[in-house]
Amino acid sequence: MAVVWVTGASSGLGRYTAEALLADGWLVVGGARSFQDEEKDGMHRLHLDVSDGGSVRRFADEACARFGAPDALVNAAGVLCIGACEDYSEEELRRVMEINFFGTARMVKAALPLMREKGRGRVVNFSSINGLLAVPFQGAYTASKHAVEGYSEALRMELLPQGVEVMLVEPGDHRGGSRAYRPLSAGCAPCYEESRRRAAARIARDEDGGAYPARLGRRVAAALRQKRLPLRLRVAQLPQHGAVFLHDLLPGGLFTRLVSRYYGVRGPGGAGKRQ
Ligand SMILES: NC(=O)c1ccc[n+]([C@@H]2O[C@H](COP(=O)([O-])OP(=O)(O)OC[C@H]3O[C@@H](n4cnc5c(N)ncnc54)[C@H](OP(=O)(O)O)[C@@H]3O)[C@@H](O)[C@H]2O)c1
Repeated sequence: MAVVWVTGASSGLGRYTAEALLADGWLVVGGARSFQDEEKDGMHRLHLDVSDGGSVRRFADEACARFGAPDALVNAAGVLCIGACEDYSEEELRRVMEINFFGTARMVKAALPLMREKGRGRVVNFSSINGLLAVPFQGAYTASKHAVEGYSEALRMELLPQGVEVMLVEPGDHRGGSRAYRPLSAGCAPCYEESRRRAAARIARDEDGGAYPARLGRRVAAALRQKRLPLRLRVAQLPQHGAVFLHDLLPGGLFTRLVSRYYGVRGPGGAGKRQ
């Protein structure tokens, strides 16, 4: 039975991806901080904090000892922090980068030697549409997902001769993610208060009306059935595909004005002030 490690398998897209892989016959070793060491609903659950190198090593050692080397790794663990770039504390910025970017890199480092021994492997890193373009009040998240994009593309090139393939998953808005992973930044200067409130409401509305996560899980599982992995698997609704297209097409100044208006960004002095 092929073995896949799935991080962030306790909630949202990571959970749905794990379920789709189980349905496809994979032996799924799911990792999350809220998991205890147990088997439940067909998934082998192990405690994992991707922001802690020791926890990643323990997860990898335990998973390997019990189920053998992984054939695939899916890095889905991820968090947001909704706030203005200026307001983020260094701790908030680091937390998002630690989980979304360094967590991904830690898991890759743990899995690759095991995959190389097997002579094959597949790495699936969750990015986001925000890995391709920024939105206001998601600066930390956007930065972390841009980092995941660049890292994964380089990784794919380096691993080409070694039989290990790398794929980026770029979801648009999906429902089912937990609000617990979308905290507001602790600080918020008065000049950002109204804009952040509107942007947070827009983010919540877009996710609530987003695509169905089970479908994304099935798309990832289907990609892992293919002989070759594409570099990118974008799973988004039409407006988000359109946004990526316009981001590459329009002058940057115009694109950023359009997006900040969409998220309700206003100047401190009042309505509709141009940024
Ligand atoms: N939902 C969307 O609209 C959307 C759009 C684009 C991209 N994505 C990406 O898809 C992935 C899943 O997001 P989601 O919104 O669907 O799920 P979510 O409900 O926000 O779940 C986040 C997952 O990450 C895990 N996690 C958080 N910190 C962790 C840590 N330090 N170590 C290990 N696991 C940790 C959580 O489990 P524990 O708390 O148990 O550790 C949970 O399983 C993320 O990478 C996200 O950036 C989501």
